Amino acid sequence: MFASIFLIFGFFNWTFTSADTDVSCQFRTDCILPCSFNVGNEVVIHWILKPGDIQVHSYYYNKDQLGLQNPRYKGRTSLYPEQLGRGNASLRLSNVSVEDEGRYQCYTSTVNGNKETYIQLKVYAPIKDVVIKKLENNLTCSSDGIYPEPKLTWTIGSPYDPPEKPSISRTESQLYSISSSIPYNLNAHHNAATCSITTTKDQKKATLLEEALRNCSATETTVECQSLDAPPDRIVWRFNHVNLILTRRRGEAFEATAGWKKHVKEVSSQGALTLIDLKPEHEGTYTCESINTKETAIATTPLHLVEDNNVSSTTAIVVIIILGAIVLIAVLVFLLLRRRRQTRDNL
Ligand SMILES: *[C@@H]1O[C@H](CO)[C@@H](O)[C@H](O)[C@H]1NC(C)=O
Ligand SMILES: *[C@@H]1O[C@H](CO)[C@@H](O)[C@H](O)[C@H]1NC(C)=O
Ligand SMILES: *[C@@H]1O[C@H](CO)[C@@H](O)[C@H](O)[C@H]1NC(C)=O
Ligand SMILES: *[C@@H]1O[C@H](CO)[C@@H](O)[C@H](O)[C@H]1NC(C)=O
Repeated sequence: MFASIFLIFGFFNWTFTSADTDVSCQFRTDCILPCSFNVGNEVVIHWILKPGDIQVHSYYYNKDQLGLQNPRYKGRTSLYPEQLGRGNASLRLSNVSVEDEGRYQCYTSTVNGNKETYIQLKVYAPIKDVVIKKLENNLTCSSDGIYPEPKLTWTIGSPYDPPEKPSISRTESQLYSISSSIPYNLNAHHNAATCSITTTKDQKKATLLEEALRNCSATETTVECQSLDAPPDRIVWRFNHVNLILTRRRGEAFEATAGWKKHVKEVSSQGALTLIDLKPEHEGTYTCESINTKETAIATTPLHLVEDNNVSSTTAIVVIIILGAIVLIAVLVFLLLRRRRQTRDNL
């Protein structure tokens, strides 16, 4: 009676197949391939990469059996011994590489029967930085260390089809590098170029914005950053491309570099920089780099300083108000005196 129940269980276990489970793991990190079985004596576990039956990890006679393990997996696999008693045959695979992608079979057997489950392991390496640069008469956009294969697109006002296809190469560790060069033709109508890099898992973009020369007051002027879809995590302002003005991280106070301290009035949360008391040597190009996890934008604004006739506009306003007040008081006093004289004359 019991035996037949066991047989039925065994039979069901043996024929039980479920859809593959998808597991996505980040390149060079550790990853768990889940697998469970019905608890019983005489546990046998085989983790096998299909097709080709590459031995990944085996366990029987109450211990790991790594004699036939493929060298690719050497030192990178382990089961969770304390979990085996609970029917958990999950495999931990460390330092995941692109070659580890594939269909893994978890074969388990106990006195109660056998089971096979399958895991589809997918590896990804997120897009890190998208770098956009002006190089001679080209705009170049590039990014490295990506998996799976990325795509690159340009937008200059509207989607822009580059004259040459982006070039894609692969590193020794099978990651992709992508780059694209286009003729530099930003102008008054389209002063921004955006390069987007996408994979099936991920998307990042970088924008280069060039403003036209602007006349601005030396007393006080505000220079804008390119706004991002989400608030920036970091803002970096530079003068003439190399001279650092300040760095501001989200939620933190900023501190301008020594030479710029007395010329920086404030920085808005979107990064706009308000400058005061500018001298002729502050005429030049101001660059704002705004960055968050999805985007980078580089906005350059050349400034031409104009003097406000040696009197700042705020001083001028104050002077006008004071002069106005004096005139008003004088008129009032004059009227009052005349009225008094009139009343006295009438008496
Ligand atoms: C099996 O063990 C691993 C590692 O401790 C754990 O992450 C996983 O959730 C366990 N699976 C089950 C079904 O308990
Ligand atoms: C991960 O694997 C790579 C190549 O197989 C190796 O160069 C690197 O040292 C390994 N990293 C760790 C932390 O084991
Ligand atoms: C500029 O881009 C073109 C493709 O549009 C490319 O052939 C050329 O080598 C690039 N020049 C530089 C200096 O990157
Ligand atoms: C800036 O000022 C100069 C005179 O100093 C003038 O010739 C020029 O047209 C002005 N440019 C703009 C963009 O306002």
